[in-house]
Amino acid sequence: MTLSMKKYINQHPNLRVIIYAGKGGLGKTTCSAATSYWYAKQNRKALCFSTDPQASLSDIFEKDLFGKGEQKLAENLFVVEIDADRKITEFQEEVRQKIREMYGIDEIPKEIDEYISTSSYEPAMHESATYDAMAALLASKKYDVYVFDMPPFGHGVRMISMATILDVWIDKMAEARKKAAEYKEAEARIKGVSAEAEDAVLNELDEIRSKLDFFRETLTNSETTAFFMVLIPEKMAILDTERALKMFEKLGIKLSGVIVNQVYPVELLERKDLSEFLKHRIEMQQGYLKEISEKFGEHVRAVVPMFEKEPKGLEMIGRVAEHLFEKPNLEVLKRV
Ligand SMILES: Nc1ncnc2c1ncn2[C@@H]1O[C@H](COP(=O)(O)OP(=O)(O)O)[C@@H](O)[C@H]1O
Ligand SMILES: [Mg+2]
Repeated sequence: MTLSMKKYINQHPNLRVIIYAGKGGLGKTTCSAATSYWYAKQNRKALCFSTDPQASLSDIFEKDLFGKGEQKLAENLFVVEIDADRKITEFQEEVRQKIREMYGIDEIPKEIDEYISTSSYEPAMHESATYDAMAALLASKKYDVYVFDMPPFGHGVRMISMATILDVWIDKMAEARKKAAEYKEAEARIKGVSAEAEDAVLNELDEIRSKLDFFRETLTNSETTAFFMVLIPEKMAILDTERALKMFEKLGIKLSGVIVNQVYPVELLERKDLSEFLKHRIEMQQGYLKEISEKFGEHVRAVVPMFEKEPKGLEMIGRVAEHLFEKPNLEVLKRV
């Protein structure tokens, strides 16, 4: 039996994190906006989070939200669009400050300073900044529901495997530093001085680890967190979703569902004035819907139609929400 979006949510009463993952351009941001809108209407305080400055929440909600922190749009509806570049700059400054403190120096050696500066071009830095902002918001516990519109990289789940790798690495580092501290203490004892100086690096590593652990635990708990993917009835999107499903499996994350977006109503085929062009598009979609039904059938939570215009503004987003939650139209997949 296929579960609609609403039924899935009803079956998971402890859900408080909803993540839209997948390739760009198919409707992630639109569905994220609609999901937070729907929750807000259910009297749940919802936060919609995005980081992608293009085709963004600012466009969808028709308000400049970029880098402005948490903004209230309607009763119970809050949005935040983080400025990852600014977060990276702030983070780099923090790193510089920590190095100065740890080593008691006023000026950072030129090579190291350059190394820190060029790190901002690393895509991984953007990911880290994004995850950091997400974790901070989650930890604040200010909202009933968090909807995360993930940037396209790594389907937004690479972070979980990253956490595992980092964990091992941090363990090794911590072990080495503890050994070093023991030697130091022994040396100090021999010399008759006390050496209880805290290892700043060790503390720093511990802090990173506890952040990662908190994040990973949240993301892998399918009672509190749901991952949805948005796809459209086209070959590339189907392939991409299959790949993502495998990746999810490897990481031990359960995919909560798939939203099929931008579907032309098949009833259009009955219209006499239908152009050949549109007729072909609809028939092509019907073919891919069949493939979607066979491949992801039980995962599909809603089929959202192609709208006559881009869904923007609260009213249009309300219409998307209506289709996502109230009229999931799953019969479409049975008919193909
Ligand atoms: N059901 C739909 N009908 C019409 N246009 C849509 C629909 N869903 C999304 N769009 C449009 O498609 C484009 C991509 O959607 P968006 O939500 O920004 O995707 P993503 O966040 O995955 O990149 C946007 O211009 C959006 O307005
Ligand atoms: Mg987007």
